Amino acid sequence: MHHLRSLLPLTLAGTATAAVLHMPAKRQIPIPQSTLMNFTNIADPFVFNVVDLAGDGEVIYVANITVDGQSYEVQLDTGSADLWLNTQNITLSPAANDTNISVTVQYGDMTAATGDVFVAPAQFGNYSIPSQAFINAPGSNATSDNDLGLLGLSSKNISEVHTTLACKNNTGGLPVLYNIFAANPSLPNYFSFLLSRSNLGVTDGGIFSVGEVDPNWSAVLNQTQIPVVSQLEQWISVMDGVVVDGKNFSGHGLLSKVKGVSDSVKNKTLSLLDSGTSLGIMPQYYWDAVYKDVPGIKALDAKNGVWQLPCDTRKNVSMTFNGTVYPLNPLDLTRVNNLGNFSDGTNQTICVNTFQPADEASQGLDFILGDSFMRNVYAVFNFGNWTNTTEGAAPPYIQLLPTTNQDAAWSSFNDSNNARIQQWTDLQGQFNLTNDGPPTSTVARRRSVRRVSVDASDEEIAEAAARTHEYWSS
Ligand SMILES: *[C@@H]1O[C@H](CO)[C@@H](O)[C@H](O)[C@H]1NC(C)=O
Ligand SMILES: *[C@@H]1O[C@H](CO)[C@@H](O)[C@H](O)[C@H]1NC(C)=O
Ligand SMILES: *[C@@H]1O[C@H](CO)[C@@H](O)[C@H](O)[C@H]1NC(C)=O
Ligand SMILES: *[C@@H]1O[C@H](CO)[C@@H](O)[C@H](O)[C@H]1NC(C)=O
Ligand SMILES: *[C@@H]1O[C@H](CO)[C@@H](O)[C@H](O)[C@H]1NC(C)=O
Ligand SMILES: *[C@@H]1O[C@H](CO)[C@@H](O)[C@H](O)[C@H]1NC(C)=O
Ligand SMILES: *[C@@H]1O[C@H](CO)[C@@H](O)[C@H](O)[C@H]1NC(C)=O
Ligand SMILES: *[C@@H]1O[C@H](CO)[C@@H](O)[C@H](O)[C@H]1NC(C)=O
Ligand SMILES: *[C@@H]1O[C@H](CO)[C@@H](O)[C@H](O)[C@H]1NC(C)=O
Ligand SMILES: *[C@@H]1O[C@H](CO)[C@@H](O)[C@H](O)[C@H]1NC(C)=O
Ligand SMILES: *[C@@H]1O[C@H](CO)[C@@H](O)[C@H](O)[C@H]1NC(C)=O
Ligand SMILES: *[C@@H]1O[C@H](CO)[C@@H](O)[C@H](O)[C@H]1NC(C)=O
Repeated sequence: MHHLRSLLPLTLAGTATAAVLHMPAKRQIPIPQSTLMNFTNIADPFVFNVVDLAGDGEVIYVANITVDGQSYEVQLDTGSADLWLNTQNITLSPAANDTNISVTVQYGDMTAATGDVFVAPAQFGNYSIPSQAFINAPGSNATSDNDLGLLGLSSKNISEVHTTLACKNNTGGLPVLYNIFAANPSLPNYFSFLLSRSNLGVTDGGIFSVGEVDPNWSAVLNQTQIPVVSQLEQWISVMDGVVVDGKNFSGHGLLSKVKGVSDSVKNKTLSLLDSGTSLGIMPQYYWDAVYKDVPGIKALDAKNGVWQLPCDTRKNVSMTFNGTVYPLNPLDLTRVNNLGNFSDGTNQTICVNTFQPADEASQGLDFILGDSFMRNVYAVFNFGNWTNTTEGAAPPYIQLLPTTNQDAAWSSFNDSNNARIQQWTDLQGQFNLTNDGPPTSTVARRRSVRRVSVDASDEEIAEAAARTHEYWSS
């Protein structure tokens, strides 16, 4: 039941520009309005664990958007581009226009949101949008933890609403950020994410902003610009490789398998930064480097990518982008979970891997770096010429400021790890758990990855990556 579209062919025709256009590091313009907002981890830090106890292994990041006068708490997702709302129990006003065009968005975990596209006034932070398209999806199963929808932050060309309306209705049907950027031409066309962690090593809210960065973290705008392969129409960037306990690993991705790719590119990998994925995905080669030789590792559900690891597993793992190293807190390599049943007393606190091995080449990428990675950086996603229509505007890029000090994370590991395990066991007594899961309930399903079919051949993807690399290194 795949609902997949052709997003590409890649438009690689035309002349590659050799000009490098550096975006100004800081723009001295008054910010007219603001969306700088803290977002809450859906209720409190414990929810992370509660959700795991329920067996769905998920934590989500939410913010409020007001549409047609109603506030909806929606998940913020860099892996997709549509806005849909669960309008169950809500009556839309006559100001909300029904286009009578039905659209479905389907996510990586096979949940879906279906309904007519409506157009209504919206408010996001302090930004007003006179006419925002959204899928009216009462009762969608793509919700979790009482959120009321999802706000996609990716390219319009993977928006189901936009691409459908563009051919069936002359209304634009553009994603939220596109409307904000269009209405505020002097606003820098980026958004930023900081997923913080509590003292106990789990998620504890964070920061989200549009067109400005949190003043405490403004150094992010000085960080290297990590090229996004704009033709893939997702936040997929070119990654150098992974460092595991001081050893470098690179190559073995989609680009290495294509003949004729230049040496400067073929050892790089394609990596999607996805706030809608709780954990992460690595090609087998990298997974082996990180996890395979951990003493005591054993398969729980290898088919679904779940291994049990000693809870004191501690390794130094970093991702490298354009020569800059981004360390992960060792806590982000494992998560606490439960094995056995609560009712028959066989429950047992265990730890499992966060990154799962998978070959995503058919999706046009190698790594999915979800929240397990994103908790370690303050990230700025710059739309570049996805929204900036000025001739010669730079293509999209990402800037990451490391927020994890590897040495500090290493030396505080035992304390924070013991604290999170203690928190986990304490919680078991606090909830009336009737839903006993078999061991397979530890499967960490990711959600909200927009599984787009990439029509382009590996050769076309490699060519796009090579052009991106060429653009940024010239
Ligand atoms: C976010 O929360 C922190 C801590 O509660 C607070 O200091 C800060 O002012 C908040 N920021 C915004 C933009 O609300
Ligand atoms: C959304 O608004 C509701 C109601 O005002 C509030 O309780 C909730 O904390 C808000 N959520 C976020 C993420 O700001
Ligand atoms: C709508 O109301 C019903 C009945 O009160 C409730 O069970 C359901 O959770 C509500 N839906 C939403 C999205 O709030
Ligand atoms: C496009 O949508 C508007 C509602 O915003 C509707 O009034 C109009 O009839 C639609 N046009 C077409 C061609 O479907
Ligand atoms: C969600 O609902 C859709 C129908 O709207 C269905 O096809 C899909 O299987 C459901 N997914 C899950 C995970 O229940
Ligand atoms: C809804 O349709 C009416 C009539 O075509 C139009 O005046 C109004 O601007 C539309 N509302 C939105 C939010 O697009
Ligand atoms: C960014 O770099 C410039 C030039 O090196 C420097 O003057 C400025 O202080 C830096 N900004 C931050 C926030 O680090
Ligand atoms: C990548 O790193 C190189 C060498 O450090 C630098 O010259 C280049 O400007 C960087 N690229 C970007 C996009 O920042
Ligand atoms: C690519 O990786 C291979 C082996 O992993 C190595 O031999 C080769 O030197 C690398 N090439 C470049 C350009 O880094
Ligand atoms: C799980 O087992 C431990 C003993 O191993 C017990 O103390 C705890 O209450 C059990 N949790 C539940 C929810 O049954
Ligand atoms: C759009 O690109 C042009 C040309 O590079 C640049 O001058 C302008 O500042 C960019 N606009 C935004 C909002 O970044
Ligand atoms: C953005 O810039 C790149 C590099 O110049 C170019 O290949 C691409 O076609 C541009 N995209 C758009 C939408 O203009």
